[in-house]
Amino acid sequence: MILAAGKGTRMKSSLPKVLHEAVYHPILAYVIEAAKGVDAAEICTVVGHGADAVRAAFDGETSFVLQREQKGTGHAVREGLSAFSEHRDGTMLVLCGDTPLLRAETLKKLCDYHEQSGAAVTVMTASLDDPFGYGRIIRDREGGLLKIVEQRDADEEEKAVCEINSGVYCFDLTFLRDAVTKLESDNDQGELYLTDTIAIANGEGRKAAAFQIDDYEEVSGINDRVQLAAAAKVLRRRKAEALMRAGVTVVDPDSTIIDPFAEIGADTIIEPFSIIKGRTVIGENCKIGPDAELTDSVIGNDVKFWRSVAVEATVADGGNIGPFAYLRPKTELKNNVKVGDFVEVKNSVIGEGTKMPHLTYVGDSDVGSGCNIACGTITCNYDGFLKTRSKIGDRVFVGCNVNLVSPVHIDNDVYIAAGSTITESVPGGSLAIARERQVNKEGWAEKFRAMHMKDEK
Ligand code: UD1
Ligand code: CA
Repeated sequence: MILAAGKGTRMKSSLPKVLHEAVYHPILAYVIEAAKGVDAAEICTVVGHGADAVRAAFDGETSFVLQREQKGTGHAVREGLSAFSEHRDGTMLVLCGDTPLLRAETLKKLCDYHEQSGAAVTVMTASLDDPFGYGRIIRDREGGLLKIVEQRDADEEEKAVCEINSGVYCFDLTFLRDAVTKLESDNDQGELYLTDTIAIANGEGRKAAAFQIDDYEEVSGINDRVQLAAAAKVLRRRKAEALMRAGVTVVDPDSTIIDPFAEIGADTIIEPFSIIKGRTVIGENCKIGPDAELTDSVIGNDVKFWRSVAVEATVADGGNIGPFAYLRPKTELKNNVKVGDFVEVKNSVIGEGTKMPHLTYVGDSDVGSGCNIACGTITCNYDGFLKTRSKIGDRVFVGCNVNLVSPVHIDNDVYIAAGSTITESVPGGSLAIARERQVNKEGWAEKFRAMHMKDEK
């Protein structure tokens, strides 16, 4: 169960806290990913503030329960339990939606520890130099967990404790169902605190355990935008390190942003100032950047992609892209395609080995293999109302500065003369010329000048 109904007042935002993004994903996405990583049988998110927006953003990823009024973490869990059948038992892992740095491995260790110890509740804790704001872990002389006291309810002695409640717990589900009915709001905020379940377990002679982790970074929650930026930095560093350990060269991790959900193959080099977003997949032995921006794109092996942008595009093996190319959604480049400077491609399939080295726009077109699309070629795919599709066959040579007014069909092995405006289909093997024949007027310049010079006198 993921608690995400709170407002996040300190974000000073109209957007619910868990939808604020760190490295291109809402922070809740990372918590859900960690929950998936422990093979949770079911994931339920408790929503409240901005519930509709949160639901829309994570449709299909988790189930949701609405907590109409935010009466505290204990109340949130009580509401959330309605999503789970009364007949279920076992372990309930409770997480907060604002802790994006939690790792699945750590959650697994917590669950294992909990299940082996037979505790009714196990809380994940960490020691902080500055525990201000967190609930404090109060232990007895033997080190057993007694209770958790919130900052605002703590006395001086309790405030001096540096071990804090991370907000992550494992519960025996049967115990939890009963315990949340026994919570009382006799605290400074008048809320139902989930943390009071520790004292309830102790009162009933059940075991309450603490599982302390070393890496406190993992449990740091996001409360404001300064912490959001700090968490993003950690996520970026982790991703770059994981890739480097897996054989990817990241030349300058500090100036490179790689989405934690992106995948990159071994021996690929990521040059500085590159941004790799979304679920982009890059193959092996590529050279990406400097200054590449790839979003939700698929790049094959041995691709060179520099100082260019791709959005929802596919580049197969051996592609050579850039500089200053723009591959827009539904671009599909087959093997060994060259897309050079100031070339834009949109919603088009480009066949194997085709080259368009400079200053070209290809939109809504199917281009065959082995073509040469020379400088300044434009597919005129839009008449102001309708977008239409054109087709170019294999081994077509399109000369410089050609307009292809869609829809046209250029068959295989066609040559199109430079400067042509093609409005009709061209049969295979022909040369198409569609421009005025040239006229040279000899001696014209001299007459022209003489006429003007006479006027000036
Ligand atoms: C809580 C813990 C504190 C712990 C800290 C760790 C309690 C009483 N305190 O404090 O011991 O150190 O987390 O970060 O549990 N939420 C709801 N519904 C509500 C209230 C909260 O869904 O009615 C959700 C929030 O969206 C958030 C989480 O529960 O994701 C924690 O709530 P928050 O108000 O941030 O708790 P803290 O005061 O930080
Ligand atoms: Ca709070």
